[in-house]
Amino acid sequence: MVGEWAERLARAEEIVARARQIVAFTGAGISSESGIPTYRDTNDAIWEKYDSETIAEISHFRRDPRNFWRFFQEARYVAMSQAEPNPGHRALAAMERAGRLHSVITQNIDGLHQQAGSQRVIELHGNTRRILCLECGERHAFEEVYEILQLRNPPPCRACGGMLKPDVVFFGEPLPAAALMEAGQAIADCDLLIAIGSSLVVYPAAALPEQAKRQGADLMLVNLTPTAYDSIADVVLPASAGEVLPALARAAGVADPI
Ligand code: APR
Repeated sequence: MVGEWAERLARAEEIVARARQIVAFTGAGISSESGIPTYRDTNDAIWEKYDSETIAEISHFRRDPRNFWRFFQEARYVAMSQAEPNPGHRALAAMERAGRLHSVITQNIDGLHQQAGSQRVIELHGNTRRILCLECGERHAFEEVYEILQLRNPPPCRACGGMLKPDVVFFGEPLPAAALMEAGQAIADCDLLIAIGSSLVVYPAAALPEQAKRQGADLMLVNLTPTAYDSIADVVLPASAGEVLPALARAAGVADPI
């Protein structure tokens, strides 16, 4: 396996070194090393413990938001509020600063790419640190809502008493059109897409790697477990993002990636 691993990594480094426009596509796996559980792949994955179809589905939320806010209190707030960017996030930010990464398209809602210093972050599923009132649009901080939740569920808008909702895409909601457009353009212009820490099962985001391949880009997968796209990828690195991305950043010419 060591020989094979060395071969895969050498091939990946060669592809990165010659790439002209690189785009990263990230999922929950890149944040797992920051202590934020993923959704599907392990026993402590979020959707192994909570039913995604009721907790994070928009019609259930509008009918009774209390289930979601209990989930937010129990399973999201502590991990998210304590999470720090890890070497995977920092390597991507360093590649962007060195002009060797065009943008990060992320499915993640934790804001860790921005915290690591990435500037061009396309958030396909929104950002849970932005909590908005559905009635008046008043924006509330993540921490503030957690405090309100200690006293009241559902938490009311401080301005109008209306219903609050994190600025994230629930199941049953469309993805933000502007972000989808920007992601499509980034994919169309790239010659290498690196998909990192995603099971690639939730559409339309999961269609982006295939779109990259169709328009002639190289496709690289950095993922601990196999995905449905392994067979079309140019190279698959079955390893942790925090370990591999600094090596790929160095191959891209970034001297000090983390
Ligand atoms: N390094 C690389 N890969 C990892 C790591 C790691 N440290 N840890 C976990 N992984 C891999 C897992 O093997 C798994 O295949 O990351 C993947 C995470 O998959 P999911 O949990 O399905 O997360 P994701 O693909 O981002 O889910 C997509 O589903 O519930 C919705 O909106 C939610 O954005 C989310 C979407």
